[in-house]
Amino acid sequence: MSVAKKEFKKVTTHVLLEMKRKGEKISMLTAYDYTMAKIVDGAGIDVILVGDSASNVMAGHETTLPITLDQMIYHASSVIRAVDRALVVVDLPFGSYQGNSKEALNSAIRIMKESGAHSVKLEGGREIRESIARILTAGIPVMGHLGLTPQSIYKFGTYTVRAKEEDEAERLVEDAKLLEESGCFAIVLEKIPASLATRVAKEVSIPVIGIGAGGGVDGQVLVVHDMLGLTTEFSPRFLRRYANLHETITTAVAGYISDVKSKDFPSSNEQY
Ligand code: KIV
Repeated sequence: MSVAKKEFKKVTTHVLLEMKRKGEKISMLTAYDYTMAKIVDGAGIDVILVGDSASNVMAGHETTLPITLDQMIYHASSVIRAVDRALVVVDLPFGSYQGNSKEALNSAIRIMKESGAHSVKLEGGREIRESIARILTAGIPVMGHLGLTPQSIYKFGTYTVRAKEEDEAERLVEDAKLLEESGCFAIVLEKIPASLATRVAKEVSIPVIGIGAGGGVDGQVLVVHDMLGLTTEFSPRFLRRYANLHETITTAVAGYISDVKSKDFPSSNEQY
């Protein structure tokens, strides 16, 4: 008897555009390794972001700045091996695209070629316009990222809400339109007022995915370690925790330690 093959449609940039047109919300989560990506993809997520937040949650750095292109390619190729359905977006890390557009193109090509990813994400607006244009000429889909851009943390000094003032808000709207005109297939808006994010989502035709940007956008993204409660020290207002894996894992590990110490593990059924 043949086993019925699971029916699914692979998510592409065109599917995301169609979802926006139909008003269907887009779900996006980060993943950085094979096992987590397999679970997240199997659960039906639309987009997986191999974020440079790997620098924080995988490597323990304070910022996203230290992660290298080689390390991003390692994470992305682990994720790609697990994914059947989701669109995989990979962050270009700090220092791999700001120099000039040729460097940006080379970095994007390395990610696509060496990991098998489907698209890349860059932080910034008008200041990286040339880099975006050059990457797009190679046929590589680009996702933009505006608002709180963690790679510029030392310029801003804090992780507080961005674009609260009118001039910064107007600049962000202009940048979003510029990203759309440049050919980006979607934009992430991080930590900006909900009313501003809603306005951007209405004024551009490409999907706008928010993190800390309210419910008026076309989709939501969270860092998977945060929403699963693996991390405990990071608790911004926008974060909803769907599990407390920190507690679950701590309890499991403590149980294992106790069973080893008391010689309860392994039992006669757990040996050869
Ligand atoms: O690196 C990352 O996880 C991100 C998300 C916060 C959007 O860029």
